[in-house]
Amino acid sequence: MRKKIIAGNWKMHGNRAEVRTLITELKQGVTAFPKIEMIVFPSFVFLAEVQALLQNSAIFLGAQNIYPAKSGAFTGEISTEMLVETGCKYVLVGHSERRSILREPLDFIAKKFKAVLQAGMCPVLCVGETQEEREKNMTEKVIDHQLQTVMDFCGLDAFREVIIAYEPVWAIGTGLTATPEQAQQVHQFIRTLFAKQDVELAQNLSLLYGGSVKADNAASLFAMPDVDGALVGGASLIAKDFLAIAKAAEQVSSVLC
Ligand code: PGA
Repeated sequence: MRKKIIAGNWKMHGNRAEVRTLITELKQGVTAFPKIEMIVFPSFVFLAEVQALLQNSAIFLGAQNIYPAKSGAFTGEISTEMLVETGCKYVLVGHSERRSILREPLDFIAKKFKAVLQAGMCPVLCVGETQEEREKNMTEKVIDHQLQTVMDFCGLDAFREVIIAYEPVWAIGTGLTATPEQAQQVHQFIRTLFAKQDVELAQNLSLLYGGSVKADNAASLFAMPDVDGALVGGASLIAKDFLAIAKAAEQVSSVLC
């Protein structure tokens, strides 16, 4: 059975003292939820510190971005080797803020996805439609295109041990959440897309929902059969809120066991 995954995308938030407090509280709190997997994605400048603080804890470390090369003359960028050395196991790829604000095209996202895998880390590939695309009934077409671009470049096999996060752009940081039914519909669409080529791969694929996940909407999202956890932004910055989301995932996992 797929494990529920609760991932915290801290974005460009926090200072050293806040990061220390947050990790200390999460480390203590997560021990109550042995059935779930927790990942945190701090800013690059805090990765080494968070890695040190996470020693002897069940929380995994992830990075918010990479440059798709082992090393080289890429001023201001961070390589896959640097992240591996810092203890990162996961990397966010294709987040909508990078697609829209930093203008990252899909072929560049595909290169990042491949580079993360080649370095032995797990990409968390974010896909999702804008409000306008949803209103035009283009959600499935957009997501199919986003996934297909990566699949064409990396091959189907590359999706064997990765995480996909469905994050409708209109729900990120807006307080608007997809209803559990809307999330399930897209997650099911994604799983079916893969099942057409490889049923086992599709069944093992972890599909997270992201977009204004909070303690009070997490349980109903996690109750959906194809929602395997959440990628959480705002609510991951407060230990109490993030742990409440983790608790909702733990409770669903306990019922399913
Ligand atoms: P949010 O962010 O939970 O603040 O909406 C989610 C994300 O961007 O991953």
